[in-house]
Amino acid sequence: MTTPRRKTPADLRSARWFAPDDLRSFGHRSRTMQMGYGPEDWADKPVIAIVNTWSDAQPCHLHFKERVHDVKRGILQAGGFPIELPALSLSESWVKPTTMLYRNMLAMDTEELLRCHPVDGAVLMGGCDKTTPALVMGALSMGLPFVYIPAGPMLRGNFQGQALGSGTDAWKYWDERRAGHLTKAQWLGVEGGIARSHGHCMTMGTASTMTAIAEAMGLTLPGASSIPAPDANHPRMCAAAGRRAVEMVWEDLTPDQILTPAAVKNAVTVAMATGCSTNAIIHLIAMARRAGVPLGLDELDAIGRSTPLIANVRPAGQGYLMEDFYYAGGLPALMKTLSDKLDLGARTVSGRTLGEDIAEAKVFNADVIRPLDNPVYHEGSLAVLRGNLAPDGAVIKPAACDPKYYQHRGPALVADSYPELKKIIDDEDLDIHPDTVLVLRNAGPQGGPGMPEWGMIPMPKALLKRGQRDMVRLSDARMSGTSYGACVLHVAPEAYVGGPLALLRNGDIVELDIPARTLNMVVSDEELARRRAAWTPPPPRFHRGYGWMFARHIEQADKGCDFDFLRAEFGPNPGEPDI
Ligand code: FES
Ligand code: MG
Repeated sequence: MTTPRRKTPADLRSARWFAPDDLRSFGHRSRTMQMGYGPEDWADKPVIAIVNTWSDAQPCHLHFKERVHDVKRGILQAGGFPIELPALSLSESWVKPTTMLYRNMLAMDTEELLRCHPVDGAVLMGGCDKTTPALVMGALSMGLPFVYIPAGPMLRGNFQGQALGSGTDAWKYWDERRAGHLTKAQWLGVEGGIARSHGHCMTMGTASTMTAIAEAMGLTLPGASSIPAPDANHPRMCAAAGRRAVEMVWEDLTPDQILTPAAVKNAVTVAMATGCSTNAIIHLIAMARRAGVPLGLDELDAIGRSTPLIANVRPAGQGYLMEDFYYAGGLPALMKTLSDKLDLGARTVSGRTLGEDIAEAKVFNADVIRPLDNPVYHEGSLAVLRGNLAPDGAVIKPAACDPKYYQHRGPALVADSYPELKKIIDDEDLDIHPDTVLVLRNAGPQGGPGMPEWGMIPMPKALLKRGQRDMVRLSDARMSGTSYGACVLHVAPEAYVGGPLALLRNGDIVELDIPARTLNMVVSDEELARRRAAWTPPPPRFHRGYGWMFARHIEQADKGCDFDFLRAEFGPNPGEPDI
């Protein structure tokens, strides 16, 4: 490995703002002095942006208001100059219709915040689902050295002495409530006990998956993603990240040296071994492409087939939650177990190799982090399906569904919108067969809009009352990483843009074969051609503003749902502001 020349103060990007003896720099300096700083604060020092996704509308990042002081402490200790830059907070629990509509907006926010300010390096503070990919995508495109700080999982939930898992147990108890097995008072007990500290969701949902992926990519300090948010190790990690960001500027350790093809492959392998959220597929593709590393569904499926699921954490695993995962050794211990499948020479923000970072890691509970020969599931948790219903692919999480649905054939029952779906699922007298394939369409990137997490379609009451708790469900939507069930997701192209899903009709037979990786409707090509000729595109969803831009530039799920104009190969970066 070649070590690049250390930067000198004159090389600093921020020196272009602060050093020249001219009128513009006078302005930059005098207005920095307006804040109470002097040259001893900034001169010859790396300026480190702290991109903070704290807000009063972001419960998962509540502690970032305090943690930012720990980051600043670290930056000052190492001789840097911290500046906090607030960014879109993108709370999964409050934002409607879905945070996915705004992931790319936060990515643009991040990239342009770093571009337009006198910044040499960055610390990114995120964790709630979309914030991790968004911050990373933006910072990758900007290309300055950065360290990612994961918010950390919240503590386990608690209801009447039972551990509750984010999302997963909400769905489970909601089904019980709809089946008439839970009182209002008990339901309120679940509501008050499921999220009882700051931090992100503590199942292996999208948040835990994405922060694990960031760590496996080498973008966090070793072990950072598993530390529970309220643990005192978390502020210490934040200070260390601040110190490290300053050093990375001097070392000129830019993200292209870290997010190499090897690091992307490591991240996919780790994602599969954790039983990752299906959302991870979209974000992995989007992040890799920002780094100029091509990644497609077939590579993800191939790595999935050869990687056992060894993190025994809900929802794919049984029983345990992220707090247990941390005590069992956390992600470094999981990566140590996977050593033979990883490229240990990949470099990380620590300045060392992944192999050096995890050299001392150990598993302390072999039921939580399983050995390779005793996995939770014999292959990676996700499978990519193709066929005449999804020519560009669809995704399922076999590890989180009943094996009896791995090969399934049944008649379609199709809803064109969520309100239509709601009528179906709430109709107690609905004439529905246990083998029915329940379909929701027009819920993709354009149709949703923003590809909402509607893919774990609630079970119809008519089947719940008969004791059925799972069925094959099919959509062009996503589902929460905390969800489970026989849900086929991300059908591409989506129905709204005329993908074949738009041509499916009630009663058509749908065939799902997970071992063969196929998804088909038993309808002849001639009949499909007739239906296509009769199909008319739905009216546009947006007539102005961000949504209008989104609709014109969003790519399909198999390409990561990035905007086409943000892809690495779309065009060169604008370079530095020249005045
Ligand atoms: Fe923020 Fe789940 S709601 S991570
Ligand atoms: Mg989620």
